[in-house]
Amino acid sequence: KNGLQVAIDGPASAGKSTVAKLVAKQFGYIYCDTGAMYRAITLKALKEGISLDDAATIAQLTQATQISFTPDEGGQRVFIDDKEVTEAIRQEDVTNSVSAVAAIPAVRAELSDRQKVIAKDGGIVMDGRDIGTAVLPNAEVKIFLVASVKERAQRRYKENIQKGINTPLDELQLEIEARDYKDSHRKVSPLTKAKDAEEIDTTSLSIQEVVSKIANVINNKL
Ligand code: C5P
Repeated sequence: KNGLQVAIDGPASAGKSTVAKLVAKQFGYIYCDTGAMYRAITLKALKEGISLDDAATIAQLTQATQISFTPDEGGQRVFIDDKEVTEAIRQEDVTNSVSAVAAIPAVRAELSDRQKVIAKDGGIVMDGRDIGTAVLPNAEVKIFLVASVKERAQRRYKENIQKGINTPLDELQLEIEARDYKDSHRKVSPLTKAKDAEEIDTTSLSIQEVVSKIANVINNKL
């Protein structure tokens, strides 16, 4: 093995990808954002006009879709069938539809199989909702990041303003709550803290403080 498997899970906008990228950089590990894979399938389904209730067609679409990543300044660029979708998968319509797609069992089965392959040699920081519970149940390091919904809405608001998007704060808060509800209540591998995960509340911590805490957990296992 080239290093540990580090699983980082938690609700929407808890800061998973920001800290996961920095932790990966610090240890020279690969970073894999599994949410990007669910987003990629959602984007393609929306583009092809497939109804989000049509689980069978979306399952087929998932089988037939190649999703790939290339590293980029500590982050990653995302491609569907060789077309870049790094920005497109962050659009609001994708964000608000992705939980429905992620609840389809056959979609989860396919994507989590691919995630297991990506992570098999270790040396990876993988973030998502079910990494510590379902995708990498034997990960050496499991982190569950949480933050108050108010704080998470504010973080999303600031990110949006930088991108020129101006959705009201209370609307963002409702969207985040709706997505967390759907992600935590689906039948297959819902968002939940693994028994052996370390919970970190990031509400009043800086990014660097969260990164240091996770780095300590990793260093204790090395
Ligand atoms: O992490 P991000 O917010 O980009 O994830 C988008 C959505 O993808 C989540 O709201 C959830 O519905 C789904 N997801 C999932 N399992 C994962 C990662 C993401 O169901 N491991």
